[in-house]
Amino acid sequence: MRRKILLTGDRPTGPLHLGHYVGSLKNRIAMQGETDLYVMIADAQAITDNFKDIQKVRTNILEVACDYLAVGLDPEKCHIFIQSCLSELPELTMYFLNLVSIQQIGHNPTVKAECKMRGFDESVPAGFYLYPIFQVADILAFQADIVPVGPDQTPMLELTRDVARKFNDLYKTKLFPTPQGVYPKMEKVLAGFDGQKMSKSLGNAIYLSDPETEVIKKVKKMKSDETRGSIKDPGDPEKAIAFSYLDSFDPDHSFVANLKEKYKEGGLPDSVIKERLIEVLLAFLKPIREKREVFHKDPEAVFSILERGTEKAKEKASQTLAQVKEAMGIRYSFIYK
Ligand code: TRP
Repeated sequence: MRRKILLTGDRPTGPLHLGHYVGSLKNRIAMQGETDLYVMIADAQAITDNFKDIQKVRTNILEVACDYLAVGLDPEKCHIFIQSCLSELPELTMYFLNLVSIQQIGHNPTVKAECKMRGFDESVPAGFYLYPIFQVADILAFQADIVPVGPDQTPMLELTRDVARKFNDLYKTKLFPTPQGVYPKMEKVLAGFDGQKMSKSLGNAIYLSDPETEVIKKVKKMKSDETRGSIKDPGDPEKAIAFSYLDSFDPDHSFVANLKEKYKEGGLPDSVIKERLIEVLLAFLKPIREKREVFHKDPEAVFSILERGTEKAKEKASQTLAQVKEAMGIRYSFIYK
C-alpha cells in the first residue's frame, strides 16, 4: 500500500484565525507524518482577486507560513510550498479547462457568494471566475487522495472529483485517485464574534496571532442570546456564540455541558461564559503566539523552509504533468527524449 497523499492550502490574504484552526489546520496536524502532506500557500489564487494589491499577498506569505509553523505543522513531516513557483499548475489547468463547462462554474455556490461579496455581479474577472479549475489542478497535480478543508470548499472538491473521473475515462488511465474531502468533526462552522461567517474581509475573526488584549476585547463583543430579557430568563446556548467556541476549545466538556444547562435554566450571566472562554482561549493561544514570534523574527529561516517544500512539491507536480501528457498522447517522443 502506498502512503496516502494529502494536499491542501490557504490564500495568503491575511493571518490565519481560529476558524482556520478548527476548520482544517487541526486535521492537517493530526495527519502529518503518516501521509505525504503538501500544504500550499495559494498566492496565485489570492492574486485573482487582489491583482491590484500584490504587496498584500506577498507580505502575507510570511504571516501564513508563521501561522502554520506556530500551530505545529512540522517541515520534517510536510512540505509547505508556494503555489506561483509551480508553473506545472497553470499548464495542467490548460488541459483540465476542456473537461469543465462555464455553466458548471456558474453553479458553484462558493464562487457565487464570493462574487457577491466582492461586488463582481456585473463584471467578474475571468481569472477569478476560473479559479476553481486552477484549484482542481492544485489537487490533481499531487494525485491527492485526501484534501482536508473547511466546508466552504466542498464545491471545489466535487469539481475535482468530476475532472479526475472524466480524465481517467477519456484518456483510459488510472492516473488520478478520486480525492476525498476531510471536513472538521463539528457540525457547525465557527462563527465570527458578530455571529456572521468568520472571515478576514468581515473583520470578525480572532487571529492565531492576536495579542491577549485583542482576544479579550473580541470575546467581550461576542453575541449572546439576544432574545432573553434579563439574566434570570432562560437562554438558548445555540444562540450564544461563546458556547460554540467553548465546544471547540474547552478541554473540559462536562464543565461546558454544565454551563449550558445553567444557561437554559436561567440565572447565568453571559459574563461568566465569556470569562471562561477568555481563560480557555488565552491558554490555547499563548504557546502558539510565543512560537510564532520566534519564527517571525527570523524570516530567512522560514523562507528556507518554503524553499525546501517548494522544491519537493515541484518534483511531484512535474512528474504528474509528464504522466498527464503521456496519457493524452502529447508527450512527443521527438521532443521528450
Ligand atoms: N480555496 C482555498 C481557500 O480559499 C485555498 C486553496 C487553493 C486550496 N488551492 C487549494 C485548498 C487546494 C485546498 C486544496 O481557502
